[in-house]
Amino acid sequence: MTVITTIEDLRVLAKKRVPRMFYDYADSGSWTESTYRANEADFQPIKLRQRVAVNMENRSTATKMVGIPVKMPVCIAPVGLTGMQSADGEIKAARAAEKFGIPFTLSTMSICSIEDVAAHTTAPFWFQLYMMRDRSAMKAMIERTRAAGCSALVLTLDLQVIGQRHKDLKNNMRATVIPSLGNLFDMATKPRWCLGMLGTKRHTFRNLVGHVKGVSDMKSLASWTNEQFDPTLSWADVAWVKEQWGGKLILKGIQDVEDARLAVASGADAIVVSNHGGRQLDGAQSSIRALPDIVAAVGSQIEVWMDGGIRSGQDVLKAWALGARGTMIGRAMVYGLGAMGEEGVTKALQIIHKELDVTMAFCGHTDINTVDQSILLPGTFDFKTA
Ligand code: GLV
Repeated sequence: MTVITTIEDLRVLAKKRVPRMFYDYADSGSWTESTYRANEADFQPIKLRQRVAVNMENRSTATKMVGIPVKMPVCIAPVGLTGMQSADGEIKAARAAEKFGIPFTLSTMSICSIEDVAAHTTAPFWFQLYMMRDRSAMKAMIERTRAAGCSALVLTLDLQVIGQRHKDLKNNMRATVIPSLGNLFDMATKPRWCLGMLGTKRHTFRNLVGHVKGVSDMKSLASWTNEQFDPTLSWADVAWVKEQWGGKLILKGIQDVEDARLAVASGADAIVVSNHGGRQLDGAQSSIRALPDIVAAVGSQIEVWMDGGIRSGQDVLKAWALGARGTMIGRAMVYGLGAMGEEGVTKALQIIHKELDVTMAFCGHTDINTVDQSILLPGTFDFKTA
């Protein structure tokens, strides 16, 4: 078997082991996927300055995200249907994150419920919320988040409507293991995945089924969105969520400087510069390109994080150098999970950490908190003139 040394190795293995409709769900963007590709590609031209003869002993990548200690400036992004990449996937990923020392964020559209994850972990995790039409269901969800001891709420702002993902439509993607004939043949070639699924009762959107009125479980994400998500979401609703929750609030999905300013005015604790992994507005600029202007505008007033395209610890360091005080990883976690379950998520985190740590050392730093833009080669990250 191949020795796993990169996130790409995990992706290749996940593709072999996870049924096509679920693998494709994760490894896709909307429409032409240009933004999805740009998220990764735009890290590449940014060059690092190597320094030598600097003491590199006793290094630390530890810092804080919204005041919470983290082993590196990375947390697990909320990913819908994580529990379809591997049986009980959210529990496995949350455990790996807890052992590693970074936060796990559970998606509203998860297979394991808030209560499931709370029962199988000890560290507080974070919960991601979508604004839904039914405010009493929202209130109840926020209450459940509190009861589970979650230490931050991540409100996603960029999914009032859903970006069209061709692969999902073609695969007839649904959160259920009752497959079409084509999907059935594909699943038959993934015995490890099937065995795992036979061993769990967690097969559908358990966070919502039985909690939100008038919805059945045999749904695709697109039909859930159309029925349940609130297309009228406004900054007044953000204020409402903040008031209901009362704890740390992270706003995810900011791409524009004007929106970043409004987010600061809302009193949130952090924003995530994100285009939803290239899954929403195809043609939007990559996250790493959007980041510097937003940091320049609001970085002194709010913690600015980013996600999108991170496949290595070098990407984390580049984002940090450009002012991101935290990052989120979605696909890197999903690939680890699909490839090797909890062990695979741990592997993904170890890979990213090692790349981050060694790159930081080559750039002449032993503490991530001292790293700034000066580790980047001028002219390689000035996107305005690029
Ligand atoms: C949901 O958040 C998705 O991007 O599929």
